[in-house]
Amino acid sequence: MEKTAQLYEGKAKKVFATEDPSLVIVSYKDDATALDGLKKGTIVGKGAINNRMSNYLMKLLEKSGVPTHLVEELNDRETVVKKVSIVPLEVIIRNISAGSFAKRYGVEEGIVFAEPTIEFSYKNDDLHDPLINSYHALALGLATKDEIETIKKYAFKVNEVLKEYFKGLGVTLVDFKLEFGKTPDGTIVLADEISPDTCRFWDSKTNEKLDKDRFRRDMGGVEDAYNEMMRRVFGE
Ligand code: TMP
Ligand code: ASP
Repeated sequence: MEKTAQLYEGKAKKVFATEDPSLVIVSYKDDATALDGLKKGTIVGKGAINNRMSNYLMKLLEKSGVPTHLVEELNDRETVVKKVSIVPLEVIIRNISAGSFAKRYGVEEGIVFAEPTIEFSYKNDDLHDPLINSYHALALGLATKDEIETIKKYAFKVNEVLKEYFKGLGVTLVDFKLEFGKTPDGTIVLADEISPDTCRFWDSKTNEKLDKDRFRRDMGGVEDAYNEMMRRVFGE
């Protein structure tokens, strides 16, 4: 499969058309941004790590009954995925307090919740991705009631599967962000990526951060953290 025209360039990925109108090629970059794009940098090797890890996790999720956009990994950085229209929601699941949750509600990081939480942000850069609830999503016409129910069901399923999987690697899945897409026949599938850019991973023994928070918070050891997650998943 060959790339034709570039359709889109995002903060961390480029998307290209192919000869097949139902398929696109995603190309992962080493570019990293944070704080709404204000902070910019490079995480060497990130593109390849996120590409391979995301594909591996999506295959795992497919086996557990969560449909995804994944079609075929082409090489280290490039993957063929189904062309979908992205539902403009960032779907965030949390198992432990951290990040904006800790800040918004004035609690420390590291509180283990009795039950996982879900929240939605409206994907809109001009508005800085405001937090919304599912009724707001309906009112804004971002998704239908059925679509929102499907998205919630899949998001909690992703959490169950990945929490157990990462536990086996000595990694605590603190929280993560998912995006969903709609295929032309209206099927909701998991899209975007699942990687250290979009998840918080803490070492189960030491609570050391093994994700993009090291970049967001200028902690150093960013590449080492991504490489360590790669090693845990692929043993390399
Ligand atoms: P938050 O605590 O900053 O709201 O982040 C929650 C989770 O979502 C965390 O694992 C990082 C991820 N995330 C993204 O993938 N993209 C984003 O733009 C933001 C703000 C968070
Ligand atoms: N990538 C997002 C941005 O540039 C935020 C993040 O992941 O922290 O705003």
